This record gives sequence, C-alpha cells and structure tokens, in this order.
Amino acid sequence: MTDGVNVKYPIVPRQGLDFGLDGDIPRYWLGGDAFKTRLFDAMSTLFPEGEKFFITCVRDYRDRITDPQMQGEVRDFIRQEGQHTMVHVQFNNRLRAQGVQVDEIDSEMRRVLGFMRRILPRSFTLAQTAAAEHMTAIMAHSFFHRRELLEHADPRIRAMYAWHAVEEIEHKAVAFDVLTKVAKAGYFTRIIMMLYVSLIFPLHTFLIMNHMFQVDGFSWRQRAGLWLRGLWWLYRPGGLYLPVIPHYLAYFIPGYHPWKAGRMMSYERWAEVYAKTHDPIAAGDAMHAMGA
Ligand SMILES: [Fe+2]
Ligand SMILES: [Fe+2]
Repeated sequence: MTDGVNVKYPIVPRQGLDFGLDGDIPRYWLGGDAFKTRLFDAMSTLFPEGEKFFITCVRDYRDRITDPQMQGEVRDFIRQEGQHTMVHVQFNNRLRAQGVQVDEIDSEMRRVLGFMRRILPRSFTLAQTAAAEHMTAIMAHSFFHRRELLEHADPRIRAMYAWHAVEEIEHKAVAFDVLTKVAKAGYFTRIIMMLYVSLIFPLHTFLIMNHMFQVDGFSWRQRAGLWLRGLWWLYRPGGLYLPVIPHYLAYFIPGYHPWKAGRMMSYERWAEVYAKTHDPIAAGDAMHAMGA
C-alpha cells in the first residue's frame, strides 16, 4: 500500500477499453457474496454523477491556472473521469436491468450535489472534490493491496476496478493541487469538507445497498443478517476499514500532500502489462496477482 516514498505517476488518459461488460456476468460477481458485490455496485451507481461533479468543480478554476503543467494535468484528469463515467454508465445499465433504480439514484445525486453548488462557495465544492478523491485513492490502494478481497471476483469487473484504481492513483493530487495552489483554500475548508464527505459517502452507499438487497428479494430478516455479517466484515479488527485509517487520517495533517501517501507496486505492474498487451483484463489479473 504505502511505504512513505514520494512517487508521482504520469496521468495517462486511456480510451476505448473493452472489459466485456455486455457478457454473461453473474449477479453476485464477487465470489457469489451479496454484501460484497452490492458494496461495489452501490459505489458504481454513485460514480457517473459524482465524477461529473468533480469535473465541474475543478473546471471552475481552470481559467485561473497559469502553470502549463497543471493545465495539462487538469485536462488529463477531466479526460480520465469522463472515461470512468462512460464505463460505469455501461456497467450500471446491467444493474438497471436487474431492477435497481439507477435513474432515481442519478437524480437524487444531482439534487444533492446541485444543492451543494447552490449554497457553498466554489472553493468548498472543490474541497469536497479533493476529499472524495482522497477517499477514492485510499480505496484504489486498499482494494488491490488486500488480495483476498477480489480473489473470487469476476475477472472482467475486477479489471474495470483495476483500471479505475490505476487512474485514480495517477490523478489523485490534481483536485488537491488546484484547491491549495489556485483556489488557495485553507486548512479549515479542506477539513470541514473532508468531514462532510466522510459522513455522506458511506451513508449514501449503505442506503443504495439496502435498496439493492430489496430488489434482490431479501426479506427484512435476511437483510438484517446481511448487514450484521457485512458490517462486521467491514469494521472488525483486520477488516477492510481499520487498516486504512492511517492513510485516511494523513489528510488531516497540516502540510499533507497526496503524493506523500506513497507507492503502489501493483500500479507499475498494471501499467507494464497494459503497455505490452493493451488488454485491460490481463492487466487487471496481473495487478490482482501482485497484491501490493
Ligand atoms: Fe474516477
Ligand atoms: Fe478521480
């Protein structure tokens, strides 16, 4: 995961990756486990509107960027997030076909994010973006560091998340740099929006998961069991959540910068295999196999 080494990766927008999402993918593509699958699926429903919001909030400051390198990074960040939106929309079409209310989730996201843009100064919505990008970078690190998590995943969906993780790592500092160097937002702005995102992101994800469990036909008693076992799996000692707390808390240190959060060896493995094969499934498999 992180080793404290300061390594910055180039931001490479990639287009037209084929994950075979129109294929015969099982409903519970993550080892047949409803809770784990729906955790990822719920996040996928948040990405299209969320990533459009991130693009908008970074774009607010585009005209004020004078550094050509930062202009290039912002351009490539926008391209990457645009591609993520497209691929997740394609994946979410599968969920809609299962009965998940994808359009209602989208419009609720638009309502909530639109409200934030109406009531908050632009620096705060950019701080919200930087905070969300910190969360996605943490997930990118941990999902592939914890090799057992995606061990029994469908290789196509795992490859989609591997590619998304790789690009989230590449552009993890863009919103943060615009926030601190161009918007010149202070510590309070950055932290208050991190606290907001830390509350709203899991809450929203869990509400959508519960909706998905209802669509799947689980009774309230079965759902209670799923939640008890699932939350224990997430929050128990050694679970998914506790080991990432130091990485999460690093954001609260004055003087923090995303590139101080280190190096991801499997990123380099993904980039190497993808450059050789142009096959995102092979690159995803290689990244997963490395687990570091
Ligand atoms: Fe993304
Ligand atoms: Fe991102």
